[in-house]
Amino acid sequence: MERDFAVTTKNERETIDLGIKIASSLKSGDVISLYGDLGSGKTRLVKGICEGLGINNVVNSPTFIIVNEYSSEKFGNVYHFDLYRLKSEDEILAMGFEDYMNNRGIVLIEWPRHAERLLPADSIKIHISHSVENENERWIKIEGIEK
Ligand SMILES: Nc1ncnc2c1ncn2[C@@H]1O[C@H](COP(=O)(O)OP(=O)(O)O)[C@@H](O)[C@H]1O
Ligand SMILES: [Mg+2]
Repeated sequence: MERDFAVTTKNERETIDLGIKIASSLKSGDVISLYGDLGSGKTRLVKGICEGLGINNVVNSPTFIIVNEYSSEKFGNVYHFDLYRLKSEDEILAMGFEDYMNNRGIVLIEWPRHAERLLPADSIKIHISHSVENENERWIKIEGIEK
């Protein structure tokens, strides 16, 4: 079965809708890392995933607090990390990151670059790129879940 797929979205709403769709494929304990430049749409996609999980609180980038914690009926805890400010694997280990990896909830990670070796082998990876021609177009590649 094909485990990778790519989608082009034309506006923020389509990215959020893709997140809702991704949420319906998730299972307990899934770890999802999100790659892409600043402003590419990682947080919008997380917002959609959270919406799909029935979370109604506002979803913002947790840049200043590193992790936001939400609660979903289906999976229990949902953790949304933004590791942008952490500069090494040691800093990430020091904040107890590994405990989140062995958890039955859902983990969403923006800026996972220094956490790469700590991610489970079966983690889901989502890459978002900007279009050059169209300001609001994004190319989103999803590895590790079926379309
Ligand atoms: N197709 C699209 N998908 C997602 N965001 C889009 C899209 N087109 C324009 N945008 C805008 O791009 C920005 C994405 O912001 P955000 O999700 O916070 O990015 P990141 O978390 O990757 O830094 C928002 O201002 C959003 O309105
Ligand atoms: Mg963000």
